[in-house]
Amino acid sequence: MATMLEVIFSIFIILLVLWIAISSIRGFVIGAPILYSPKRATEEALKAVDAKPGERFVDLGMGNGRSLIIAAKKFGLDVSGYEMSPIIFWLAKLNLFLHGIGKSRLFMKNFYKEDLSRNDIIFCFLTPPAMKRLRDKFEKELKKGTRVISYGFRIDGWQEKEILNPGLPGKIFIYQKD
Ligand SMILES: C[S@@+](CC[C@H](N)C(=O)[O-])C[C@H]1O[C@@H](n2cnc3c(N)ncnc32)[C@H](O)[C@@H]1O
Repeated sequence: MATMLEVIFSIFIILLVLWIAISSIRGFVIGAPILYSPKRATEEALKAVDAKPGERFVDLGMGNGRSLIIAAKKFGLDVSGYEMSPIIFWLAKLNLFLHGIGKSRLFMKNFYKEDLSRNDIIFCFLTPPAMKRLRDKFEKELKKGTRVISYGFRIDGWQEKEILNPGLPGKIFIYQKD
């Protein structure tokens, strides 16, 4: 016969598993599946936007944090990232820690609900519907001159500043807010 403590512990574990599963599925449905962009995509894009040390860089849906590691280590950027899936979020935290990146802001949050106005460079590897939804947010929120990098998908209705095609599976679309 299970004790009260065992019942409470089992309920806690079930709720934890449900929370992890639901958060991960939500990220998939409203943003993008968990796939990683090639490291060279971040590198080529940051060269193209002339990223300067100390500028604020954010990855919307940071996955395992690979773009943040390149941005911080190779370009000296001040990095932050959002990730809705709890397991992937902690993986990113660990990844940055193992790469010795002490200064970063990582949020287990839905980026649609966050204020993005302080960033200088925004990195996305999402989906066409997500880019459409973000376009309206970017138009309201971003300051003039903010550079937006989208790996794989263009932002409909925005004029690209540059399109990079460095032989990766996807193109890199670069925008600058007027
Ligand atoms: C295609 S992956 C890209 C990962 C990483 N940016 C890269 O380039 O390797 C997209 C990630 O965004 C996350 N995501 C999707 N919608 C999100 C949202 N609204 N808020 C936070 N994270 C989200 C997913 O969980 C997934 O890990």
